[in-house]
Amino acid sequence: MHTTIKSILFGAISLSAILQLSSCKMNSNADEKVNTDEVVSVLATDAHSYSNPNDLRVKHIHLDLAVSFDSRTLSGSARLDLNRLSESNILKLDARQLTIDSILLDNGVKAKYKLGEDVEYFGQELSVDLLDETESVTIFYTTSPESEALQWLNPTQTAGGKHPYLFSQSQAILARTWVPCQDSPGVKFTYSATIRTSPELIALMSAENSYERSTDGIYEFQMKQPISSYLLALTVGDLEYRKLGRNCGVFAEPPMIEKCVWEFADMQAMIDSAEQLYGPYAWDQYDVVVLPPSFPFGGMENPRLTFATPTIVAGDRSLVALIAHELAHSWSGNLVTNETWNDFWLNEGFTVYFEQRIMEKVYGKAYEEMLTELGMGDLKHTIARLTESGDVDDTHLYLDLDGRNPDDGLTDVAYEKGRFFLQTIEKAVGRVQFDAFLKHYFADNAFKPMNTQRFEAYLDEHLLKGDSALYEKILPKAWIYGPGLPSTAPNPSSKELVRVNDQVELFLNGASAEQLDIKDWTTHHWLYFLRKFDGKLDVEKAAALDNAFGFTNSGNNEILCDWFKHCIELGYEPARPAIEQFLTTVGRRKFLSPLYERMATTEEGKAWGREIFAKAKPGYHAVSSNSIEDILQ
Ligand code: BES
Ligand code: ZN
Repeated sequence: MHTTIKSILFGAISLSAILQLSSCKMNSNADEKVNTDEVVSVLATDAHSYSNPNDLRVKHIHLDLAVSFDSRTLSGSARLDLNRLSESNILKLDARQLTIDSILLDNGVKAKYKLGEDVEYFGQELSVDLLDETESVTIFYTTSPESEALQWLNPTQTAGGKHPYLFSQSQAILARTWVPCQDSPGVKFTYSATIRTSPELIALMSAENSYERSTDGIYEFQMKQPISSYLLALTVGDLEYRKLGRNCGVFAEPPMIEKCVWEFADMQAMIDSAEQLYGPYAWDQYDVVVLPPSFPFGGMENPRLTFATPTIVAGDRSLVALIAHELAHSWSGNLVTNETWNDFWLNEGFTVYFEQRIMEKVYGKAYEEMLTELGMGDLKHTIARLTESGDVDDTHLYLDLDGRNPDDGLTDVAYEKGRFFLQTIEKAVGRVQFDAFLKHYFADNAFKPMNTQRFEAYLDEHLLKGDSALYEKILPKAWIYGPGLPSTAPNPSSKELVRVNDQVELFLNGASAEQLDIKDWTTHHWLYFLRKFDGKLDVEKAAALDNAFGFTNSGNNEILCDWFKHCIELGYEPARPAIEQFLTTVGRRKFLSPLYERMATTEEGKAWGREIFAKAKPGYHAVSSNSIEDILQ
């Protein structure tokens, strides 16, 4: 009987994305349930994956991998358990930079498979021939030392200096460089893993972790909630753990751990606030691992275990909004997930909005307002840049990334325009209603993919309900499918930052740096201060500011980055050694790109940039070095 249902559905798959499929097991074994009653929705086409999840869908992965720091490889196997959603006997997977040794079907027989050519931004199609009764396949493989997801560090690149280190970064489409899988965010599966490493090291994953070193270097992991492949994560190093609250804590290398414990003291308060806002935390435990400085992002929301850059450990807790952000992804992103990378704003825009709400609850309105106004400043810059360079379509929330690197969508538009869209809805309907709506949205769509069109429908059905006056106040279509900022956009303003603005004006009108009133300024006052000077400084003014405020020697990486942008533009010589030092120790792309970009605007600067890059490159993760290579070419 189920075969008939399936053939009907099979024909309809491409026609409707709202249609639901019942997953049926083909097993003739009478003990097996025939229909699992699981409801699996049809996924929209993902322009960045070869996989065929509407025919066969991976529901569980078991990894068994040995970590070799000598050969810089992971090697072992991935068993993929499948849900069969059509008659198809060809399983299509994503792979890249992998050496496939063999593939076994669950009956123990070697499978026939084909590994396609490597296509830019895509990787390779791995197609495996199945039998009618196949329910799982095991792929034996080895990663390449060049795997773009993985960074292998020498002991000298770590804080401890004694042990090697490994970490992964799978988002957006790099999971396929260490795990052959259906590397599309709409596909969700549970996973388990056995990781074999040296007993001196601890292995951690985006899963249930152990807090102690194993005696044999073998670690077992379980992720019981379904996740997308871009959330597969592994790190191996000399790490220590400290509990920070009821269900949270931090891992870091021993020389860093005490600083991290102090910096992240508010983690439990953030979790509690988040739960009060939008419902229960679905992943039980929330830990953060602080990685070495080459980590290419600020943070990555790997479930149960956020990966974070050490550049947020500023010594004054001033950069912990990043933790609020990654924590917020436990709802927006990890629970309700962008179906394709064109819907990326559903992950990041919701998360920045949610982050803002957590920050307001934990640190108060005045601080939140500063962060929000800084966000609007960044957004306006990004919109101007994209508009001038002819990429105005990239200022839409809904993107068209077909044939492009999904990284192209990683701009302030998804983050900040997304946030301000949600803020606009909040203002139009009122906070109480909007919060109730969001809480339901996360509950209704938990562990499911979401796309832009379905979000629009959900918004209409549950909140706007066809009320044309509300639509006028918001203009959702203009936000989602239109350029720049719609007329309904808010105009955030922070009293604290008005104070800063006054001092900037004073200085530009001839007051000395020493005369400025900088009492009680925090990191974000300074960031606003530095940004207000865009295009308005000369070497003399820069020197005066540096002498008064010591920017070149700041211990805060955000301040350093904003300051160095000015220094490079102006050719401010005294900062040169500090800039070189920064670019050769920090690998966070958000800091590197703007600095190298400014260098690349003159021939001389470009030569300088290339010189630094040659030294720094071995220490950068592929995500960063690929971007810098593009800038300097
Ligand atoms: N998920 C992102 C990082 C990401 C996005 C990696 C797309 C690869 C592709 C993460 O949550 C993030 O947004 N990190 C930001 C920090 C945040 C506070 C804005 C970062 O890394 O700077
Ligand atoms: Zn994010």
